[in-house]
Amino acid sequence: MKAIAVREGEGAPSLVEKPRPEPDAGEALVRTLRVGVDGTDHEVIRGGHGGVPEGEDHLVLGHEAVGVVEDPNGTELAVGDVVVPTVRRPPNGANEYFERGEADMAPEGMYHERGIVGAHGFMAEYFTSPAEYLVRIPESLAEIGFLVEPASISEKAFELAEASRSTFEWSPESALVLGNGSLGLLTLAMLRGDYERLYCLGRRDRPDPTIDIIEELGATYVDSRKTPADAVPEVYEPVDFVYEATGYAKHAFESVHALAPNGVAALLGVPGEWEFEIDGGAFHEELVLHNKAMVGSVNSGVRHFEAAAEAISALPEWFVDDLVTGVYGLDEFDRAFAEGDTVIKTAVQFDTHEER
Ligand code: NAP
Ligand code: BGC
Ligand code: ZN
Repeated sequence: MKAIAVREGEGAPSLVEKPRPEPDAGEALVRTLRVGVDGTDHEVIRGGHGGVPEGEDHLVLGHEAVGVVEDPNGTELAVGDVVVPTVRRPPNGANEYFERGEADMAPEGMYHERGIVGAHGFMAEYFTSPAEYLVRIPESLAEIGFLVEPASISEKAFELAEASRSTFEWSPESALVLGNGSLGLLTLAMLRGDYERLYCLGRRDRPDPTIDIIEELGATYVDSRKTPADAVPEVYEPVDFVYEATGYAKHAFESVHALAPNGVAALLGVPGEWEFEIDGGAFHEELVLHNKAMVGSVNSGVRHFEAAAEAISALPEWFVDDLVTGVYGLDEFDRAFAEGDTVIKTAVQFDTHEER
C-alpha cells in the first residue's frame, strides 16, 4: 500500500510503499479516507518536533485521520463504521495513564504519538489500531472527520480552562484567540455562541482569507503588529478567556495582561527554546492579585473526540468550505504540504472508492 513518510534528515515528505498492516487481537483494520495536515506536521517534517520509531529511518506522517472499518477483527466495531483514531499509544506495553484512559496526561517518555513521535502515523491507505482508540462518528461527518482531532485539542483545553474557574461563578463574555492558523480559526468557530464578543489576533495585511473568515464569524481582527496581545485591554477590552495557538512564546506572558480579573488563558503552542526579557514581577502579581489562571494543554482523549465530533457537526458549511483550502489525492499529495497565506487547512485524500 502507499503511504506518505518523511525520511530522517530529509525535510520533505515522500510517497513510499509499505505492506498492508495485519490487525493483531483487539485491533481493527481501517481503510483511510482523509488525513489533515497542521502546524505540527510541518514542525515534524522540518525536524523540530517528534521523531521516527526506534530502529527505523522514516516516519509515516499524519495524526488527523478519518477512516472506515474494513475488518473489525472480532472487536465491537462493525464493517463500514466511520472512525477517528486518537493519537497516543503506550510505548512499551500499557502504563497507568493509558490504563486510566488518560493518555493525554502522560508525561514525556510514557507515550508515542502516531505520526509525530515514536510511532507511524495514519497517512497510509490502511492502518490498524486497538479498537479502544477508535472513536465512531456519524457517517455524515466522514468528509470533515479529519477536523475531529484538532477540534478535540480545543475541547480538552476548554475543559481544563473551565475546571480552573469552577470554584466560583464564572460567566465569561469575551474571548481572544491568538493565531489565525488552522487551529486558531477552528477554535474561533467553536467558541461562537458561548461568547458574546470574540477577537482573533494575527499579523497579516488585508486582503487576507483568514481575516475574511474572522470577520464572517462575527469576530474582531486584532493585528499584533499594531496591537500586541497585552495591549488588547487598552484598545478593545480585557477578555475573560485567551486561547493561544501561535507558538509565539511571548504570548504566554502577554496573555496574562490581556485577561480581565478572574480570567483564564489556555496555552497550546509549542515554541521551543526562545530567550527574551519579561517583567516577572508584573506577571506574577497580575496572576495573584486578579485571581487569573494559565493552563497548558496538549493532546486529547476519547471524550474530547466525542465532544469534537458534535462541535464540527455544528460548524457552518461556509466556514468549512473556506477553512479547508485543499484536499489532494495521492497523485498530488505534496500540494497538501504547501505553505503560504492562501493555504489554511489541507488534507490528503486516500480513499477513491466510487461510493464516496
Ligand atoms: P500554524 O498554522 O502555524 O498557525 C499559527 C498561526 O499563528 C499562524 O497563522 C501565524 O501567522 C500566527 N502567528 C504566529 N506568531 C504570531 C504573532 N506574533 N502575532 C500574530 N499571529 C502570529 O499552526 P496551527 O496548526 O494552527 O497550530 C497552532 C499552534 O498550536 C502551533 O504552535 C502548534 O504546534 C500548536 N498545536 C498544539 C497542540 C496541542 O496539543 N497543544 C495541538 C495542535 C497544534 P502567519 O501565518 O501570518 O505567520
Ligand atoms: C497533536 C496532538 C499532539 C501535539 C504534540 C498536536 O498537533 O494534534 O495530538 O499531542 O501536537 O505533539
Ligand atoms: Zn495536530
